[in-house]
Amino acid sequence: MSADLLHESAIGHVTGGAVYIDDLPHPEHLLVGKIVCSPHAHARIASYDLAAARAVPGVLAVLSAADIPGANQVGPVVHDEVLLATDEVTFIGQAVFIIAAETEDQCRTAERAIRVTYEPLPAIVDLRSAMATGALLGPPRRIVNGDPVAAIRKAPHRLAGELETGAQEHWYLETQAALCTPGEGPRMNVFSSTQHPSETQALVAEVLGWPRNAVEVEVRRLGGGFGGKETQANHTACWAAVLAHATGRPVKIRLFRDDDMIMTGKRHRFLSHYEAGFDGDGLLLGVTIELNSDGGATTDLSFAILERAMLHADNCYHVPAFSVTGSVWKTNLPSNTAFRGFGGPQGMAVIETIVDRVARELGRDPAEVRRKNFYREAPCATTHYGQVVEDNHLSVIHDRILATSSYRERRAAVAAFNARHEFVKRGIALTPVKFGISFTTTFLNQAGALVHIYTDGSVLVSHGGVEMGQGLYTKIRGIAAAELGIDPALVRVGATNTARVPNTSATAASSGADLNGMAVKNAIDAIKARMADALAGKFSQQAGGEATRPVDLAFAGGMITDGKHPDRSMTFGAAVQWLYLQRISLSAAGFFSPEGIGWDREAGRGRPFLYYAFGIAVSEVTIDLLTGAHTLDRVDILHDVGDSLNPMIDRGQIEGGFVQGMGWVTTEEILWDARGTLLTHSPDTYKIPTAGDVPADLRVALLEGVPNPRVIRNSKAVGEPPFMLALSVWLAIKDALSAIAGHAVEPLFSLPATRERIVLEAERLRTLARSERQ
Ligand code: MTE
Ligand code: HPA
Ligand code: MOS
Repeated sequence: MSADLLHESAIGHVTGGAVYIDDLPHPEHLLVGKIVCSPHAHARIASYDLAAARAVPGVLAVLSAADIPGANQVGPVVHDEVLLATDEVTFIGQAVFIIAAETEDQCRTAERAIRVTYEPLPAIVDLRSAMATGALLGPPRRIVNGDPVAAIRKAPHRLAGELETGAQEHWYLETQAALCTPGEGPRMNVFSSTQHPSETQALVAEVLGWPRNAVEVEVRRLGGGFGGKETQANHTACWAAVLAHATGRPVKIRLFRDDDMIMTGKRHRFLSHYEAGFDGDGLLLGVTIELNSDGGATTDLSFAILERAMLHADNCYHVPAFSVTGSVWKTNLPSNTAFRGFGGPQGMAVIETIVDRVARELGRDPAEVRRKNFYREAPCATTHYGQVVEDNHLSVIHDRILATSSYRERRAAVAAFNARHEFVKRGIALTPVKFGISFTTTFLNQAGALVHIYTDGSVLVSHGGVEMGQGLYTKIRGIAAAELGIDPALVRVGATNTARVPNTSATAASSGADLNGMAVKNAIDAIKARMADALAGKFSQQAGGEATRPVDLAFAGGMITDGKHPDRSMTFGAAVQWLYLQRISLSAAGFFSPEGIGWDREAGRGRPFLYYAFGIAVSEVTIDLLTGAHTLDRVDILHDVGDSLNPMIDRGQIEGGFVQGMGWVTTEEILWDARGTLLTHSPDTYKIPTAGDVPADLRVALLEGVPNPRVIRNSKAVGEPPFMLALSVWLAIKDALSAIAGHAVEPLFSLPATRERIVLEAERLRTLARSERQ
């Protein structure tokens, strides 16, 4: 197929031609919407008075929960989340009132005129306090295989510890945004920057008290989502819809960056405890892991995220006796939500810490210890939840990357460098990823499409997936062109719209191309079958002799040709015109849901994933012990994307995912004060990686020759798995620090490894090393 089709918005992205919600032409009478938020992490709303605010010139609506026409509820799974606060606020940044006015300034004036009396209540704003008070968001979960406690007790070596992994801000370039235009009767047209148009549609309908057929949601593209718009785009769309309904005028809301950072949820921070038993070769014999997640004020997707963390707490390693338990704790912070990896990074960080420590305790090369513990042939191929790891490419990737990265030579060079330098240390680490592809909420694995071929031979493809920069539309365009055997220039992918394709799932779980690509193929197959039937009849009639069979018609190179009689052929364009005159439909809806997946959540057993994606990264860092600064000198990645749908886009996803993961494990630190105020609410206090932080020597390779037959055109999902390859950066920093005390002392290390943490830990280890020498 046309691999390496240029990203359909590449030029628009860099020239500013790509249209986002804030760039849409303004409808007449457009109003600006604004959200008035809680300044308290927990308080009772004793009283409020909106009269003065409503009297501000230019202000058309100042609304409270009492003014919502339908349900005041936007909880996506559990109905525990109000659209506007009623008698209580439970986090700073929670929406209490909404305003619509002609201008932003008028909104601000109205906001200042609102009188509210809050009675502050005790707030819990950190995970340890939530755990101490027993504030759970739901029952704890557990997956157990074998008797890990006994296995650890009997093991020749043991270790135990605690690991904190930090929150992370999505920092999509386009903040949460929606534009709602009321129509005739019960009718609302919604442009939303959402990863989940059908859920946005459903919730807008619910808050307005309407059926879903009255609401149409359209999404052309997002300026990034990264999971942050899987559920939390709904709020902005609902606020705008309620204001549009109340005023009878179009309303646009686009959150300011700081407001977005204050109001919306992050990646869940985790506090985890672990114990492991292992033998003298570093083989894991038993592991117990306890995961504690900071859910924030409401449930959101926390349990699905915890579940994925639990299903990835093994990463690539077969542990014969394994248990993982998980709890989600309630805090007075914005509800934490989906973020690339969806709990996978938090789970994997724990087992990677364990394996790294095992290697250090035994004085072995961590890359070898990892290899020893990889899933391999039966009986070492089955995960703790009972799924067999099939089509396992881990050893192949490991062999190749050890060679191509010159890992062993560079490890020796790093050791030699460290022996010569006191204040600068180097570290190198190899970490693997095995990431399960499918929504673990099995019913979500479905997709729809709608394909129209127009009589000029041009094709309009609609599907349920959302373009957020990841290249989904480009991949779908390539798939449609390849399946029809035509030039991709003839194919346009239309904006995602709930009126064209209904009841879709979020574009998430990295499965956008897998699911929607297959649904598009399903629609195209239906049209092609109709075309083939009619054309076979025509060819047979014209040629006489042996009839043309519809199954022998091939769609390739812009032609439809009888493979048995190559002289019988027609151009795609001519065929389409002829078929129209024969009154044959050139349009079809498609649907897809993968077979063979499903699992028993209660038992913690089954096959949640259709397949796994694999990859390995080797990272090398240099750290300055006096400043804590590090440079990422070189990164090698070998990643498995099956037969790539688009190698250039897949490389982009690998690089982007890795760099975003690098931010999570190094510079991105979210801090709240004791009142629950977000301290890091702007780019001057919250540091995402910049172009300058991308390693100068970044070598990304795609694993060749590994078709993935379960998926569209033998491809493999790529959106999230590379994020977790960045654990290699964190462990390379740890390796460098551990060199201070000759790898004899375990660095105490959580993530992110900020400069401060590096300096403090370097200081501790240097003091220890000095006292050791005396
Ligand atoms: N890439 C870009 N450029 N922007 C994004 O918002 N989101 C990531 C990943 N890659 C994202 C991205 C996340 S969290 C997911 S789940 C997948 O893309 C979703 O798209 P896909 O299923 O089509 O891979
Ligand atoms: N990934 C992303 N979103 C989801 C999932 C998942 O596994 N399950 C439910 N929502
Ligand atoms: Mo991605 S976290 O599944 O939107």
